Amino acid sequence: MARAFAKVILFGEHAVVHGRHAIAAALDRGATAEARVVEGVSRLAMQPWGRVTLADEDDDVARAFSSVLEAVGGAAPVDVAVDVVVPGGAGLGCSAAIAVAIARAVADARGISLTDDGAAACANAWERVFHGNPSGVDVAVAAHGGVIKFQRGGEARPVVPGGVMELAVVYTGEPSSTKTMVESVARQLARRPQVVERTFDGIDTLALKGARAIEAGRWYEVGQLMDLNHALLSSLLVSTEKLEEVCRLAREAGAMGAKLTGGGGGGCAIALAPGKTEAVLAAWRAAGYEGFAAHIGSPIR
Ligand code: MEV
Repeated sequence: MARAFAKVILFGEHAVVHGRHAIAAALDRGATAEARVVEGVSRLAMQPWGRVTLADEDDDVARAFSSVLEAVGGAAPVDVAVDVVVPGGAGLGCSAAIAVAIARAVADARGISLTDDGAAACANAWERVFHGNPSGVDVAVAAHGGVIKFQRGGEARPVVPGGVMELAVVYTGEPSSTKTMVESVARQLARRPQVVERTFDGIDTLALKGARAIEAGRWYEVGQLMDLNHALLSSLLVSTEKLEEVCRLAREAGAMGAKLTGGGGGGCAIALAPGKTEAVLAAWRAAGYEGFAAHIGSPIR
């Protein structure tokens, strides 16, 4: 059984598309896949949607599937069954987890050995179909697990938290499209290059400081850096009223910091709340938002 992780981005989304650093953490959920060599056309079945796609169909899932099959190498047709336990369109890296699980399962079935970076590279072929211009951070953390520091074009570096990072994750209920938000930021970059490049540089500094603070277990500092990262993301117009509300509620309930995570424009936010995750989740629930606790740094594989 091949596995891959969903994720949260702790620092650096959007700026990472433009060459800056991001820090991402795997969640203890994601996607699993099994594959076997068959005769005829390769086939992909995805649960819980019950969707079945043949590799030679004329749609994006088929194109993405075919790109992964080609990137993995070998020619044997395969039957792939994927099981997904994370919501799609929420900024939690559902698509990347699916792609990495497929790449690993297909490689196993074809007798090809893949490193984590190799699986991520194959999976990025899938991401390019859906997200246009992916930085590669989502597939990197889906493949590696744990916490990683990532820069486009480079290899993922592990970041070892200096203790368990107690996060709460909330879904705003607004579906988000990473592709749309990445395109929107690219338009702003074209319109106001100096301002937006400076914003990316600011986010880069926060990501690098954030990695050091995570390794040292300086949670108060990590929380403050998250708040600053959120403010810079808001200035890139990727926040929404609901994302602002859930971040405010988290801070009022005792979180040390909160920010949107992933592409924004809806989707999810995270809050760092040592000893207070239940209080934060309760505050969100009272306002009609569903969330869950994610303890990053506890062993997950
Ligand atoms: C999405 O999880 C993160 C973004 O930075 C897009 C990317 O890195 O490809 C918004």
